[in-house]
Amino acid sequence: MRPRAVFSGRFLKPERPKTTITQILRDASGAVHSMANPSFFGYVLGASHPVGVAADMLVSAWGQNAGSSFETPAITGMERAVCNWVIDLLSLPSGSGAGLVTGGTVANMVGVMAARHKLLAAQGWDVEADGLFGAPEIPVLIGQDAHSAPFAALRYAGLGAARVRVVETDGEGRVLPDAFRKALDATDAPPLVVLQAGQINTGAFDPFMDLIPLVRERQGWVHVDGAFGLWLAAVPELEHRLAGVREADSWAVDLHKWLNAPFDAGMVIVRDREPLVASMSARGAYLPDTTDHWEPTDSTPELSRRARGVPSYAILRHLGVSGVREMVARHCRLAKRIAATVSAEPGLCVLNEIHSNQVAIACGNAQDGDALTARVLKRVQQRGKVYPTHGEWAGRQIIRASVIGYAMTDADVDLLSAEIIDAHRWCTDNPE
Ligand SMILES: Cc1ncc(COP(=O)(O)O)c(C=O)c1O
Repeated sequence: MRPRAVFSGRFLKPERPKTTITQILRDASGAVHSMANPSFFGYVLGASHPVGVAADMLVSAWGQNAGSSFETPAITGMERAVCNWVIDLLSLPSGSGAGLVTGGTVANMVGVMAARHKLLAAQGWDVEADGLFGAPEIPVLIGQDAHSAPFAALRYAGLGAARVRVVETDGEGRVLPDAFRKALDATDAPPLVVLQAGQINTGAFDPFMDLIPLVRERQGWVHVDGAFGLWLAAVPELEHRLAGVREADSWAVDLHKWLNAPFDAGMVIVRDREPLVASMSARGAYLPDTTDHWEPTDSTPELSRRARGVPSYAILRHLGVSGVREMVARHCRLAKRIAATVSAEPGLCVLNEIHSNQVAIACGNAQDGDALTARVLKRVQQRGKVYPTHGEWAGRQIIRASVIGYAMTDADVDLLSAEIIDAHRWCTDNPE
């Protein structure tokens, strides 16, 4: 799928507004993907809930700069409500600082920068004033199956992606407590530890209950990348899978994933608001009042900002607590349904336990299955009825299915399973 050449090159001559929009629609059709459709199981993407889309139209039409509450108190009010509601929904510490950012990667970056501020301040270093040259070291620990986003966050924060201590994980991608303890013992200053709620291939959670107290003993900081998986904390019958996650210091969570907000929307939450504001505020040389006066720009890296909280505000109002819980629980149930159907088919297997909404499917055996898996995925994608994407897990190529679109039902996941099974049968009957 490639955009046609019409998108590149020089400006064309002026057009009437209707012509421009009609033409864009015509030119783009066939070169955009139906990512908001319940047939899309790729990556880990939400599906632009229609109530959020309607609210997003208001955002663009209003054209508000959400950077300041002075002119746009309604926008700030909605943004703050989203922060408070999500903190509440996930049972994170009330009174935490929070900011709405563009997505999980930036939310991780902001959490890491708040940690950087606090850990260096504890060693007598003001990173905001003096930068990182000559600063004391911060040991950084991260699991070997972490997503690439926190590594990018560490780079953006000047902490380096390669100088981290990578800790061994188990077969589901969870940090191993013994290896973690050893890595912590080798640190000589309070560490920054990045843990994960929702591994991209397996959907698994780090054992927060075992790990976080060890970091506390060393006055370190725990940041959790919970881009999609943190949403399980909203569901009473599932939250035990993330037991202990609330004891962390900061969390990154996406709104454009499991809340199904239109792109782009993510959220950073920091237990202690002071280092968040100290590292993010762009108000100027004076210290902002971080208690009574809530400015979106105090907790986010942008000054001028899209009113990106409004669609999430609308979706949260529309779904309510019960709607969010129902959606997340339904998706976790549907992921199990896929795993059960697919693994009952001879020659297909599911490589992960179903911890949340991710299913890692492989064909054949470890020796020669990878080529078959790639062919099956290609055929499923080309048939176009459903769209899972590729991944690599446990040294194998996988077909990865992510159950996250708000409208997904039993029928959608059954179609996905049927398409994978059919494609697998066809590819084994028709070897290359
Ligand atoms: C576990 C995890 N962390 C971080 C990210 C990055 O989030 P975003 O794409 O919103 O920046 C993703 C995206 O899939 C993810 O799955």
